[in-house]
Amino acid sequence: MPAEPLAKSPVTPVVAGERPSLLAIDGVRRVFGSGPSGVTALDGIDMTVGKGEFVAIVGPSGCGKSTLLRLLAGLDKPTAGTITWANGQAGQSSVAFQEHRLLPWSSVLNNIMLPATMRRKASAADRDRALQLARLVGLEAFIKSKPAELSGGMRQRASVARALFPEPDLLLLDEPFGALDALTREKITGDTEEIWLNQRFTALLITHSIAEAVHLADRVFVMSPRPGRVTHIVDIDLPRPRTALVGSDRYNALVNEIRAKLQDPDHA
Ligand SMILES: Nc1ncnc2c1ncn2[C@@H]1O[C@H](COP(=O)(O)OP(=O)(O)O)[C@@H](O)[C@H]1O
Ligand SMILES: [Mg+2]
Repeated sequence: MPAEPLAKSPVTPVVAGERPSLLAIDGVRRVFGSGPSGVTALDGIDMTVGKGEFVAIVGPSGCGKSTLLRLLAGLDKPTAGTITWANGQAGQSSVAFQEHRLLPWSSVLNNIMLPATMRRKASAADRDRALQLARLVGLEAFIKSKPAELSGGMRQRASVARALFPEPDLLLLDEPFGALDALTREKITGDTEEIWLNQRFTALLITHSIAEAVHLADRVFVMSPRPGRVTHIVDIDLPRPRTALVGSDRYNALVNEIRAKLQDPDHA
């Protein structure tokens, strides 16, 4: 996929272990309802995300992944604990969801610049940026197409481009490739890594796919359910880009390590 630097996005140098912190989650708890019928969706969540880091969260259904994402997106508030952003005020997040949520009657280009045009008329600069993002995600030839004319993978690319449009401090990906077939999913995972290597935005990916987490993340947070807790943090020390490493012994060893930790939260 062609990947050109976007003029507006300064590239933050990223050195493993030397990243400035973007946000810190301390002792976060989220209880829905109260009394005996209350559901503790998250408890004792401590986590930091570095600027320019790619983190992934894996965990079984119902362990509170989407709840955590909503807290980070500012769509919900913790029952206890804090989420602190490094610059002292809540950062901007954007979300790409499993369903693409593109407007069916709008072209790819118009969908990508929707974050701007919801509030005002599109400017020439908006169009330029949308075009650069379309190029970045490999949709340059499809900017006039409607979502229905695209494949599932292309729609997810458009959705990721739209999420990147406002230059969010944090890109939140909630199972964005979960509905795609296995081959498309592998391809788009590699493409996403390429885009990230090119842009170095901060990303938090929620996924059921351990292989996808190992391909993309600098660190993988493993969660267990009821209540949702982080049981392990696994550093992924594979060099990038990782597409050529998929299926290698080191790659498989990391996948197996994470799978064991998911199956047995007390795993050492
Ligand atoms: N708005 C809500 N009201 C009540 N319970 C909720 C609400 N949102 C989530 N939950 C509960 O919190 C737990 C975690 O849900 P969720 O964050 O969606 O998990 P995941 O995304 O990991 O599958 C589940 O038991 C779910 O039923
Ligand atoms: Mg969820």
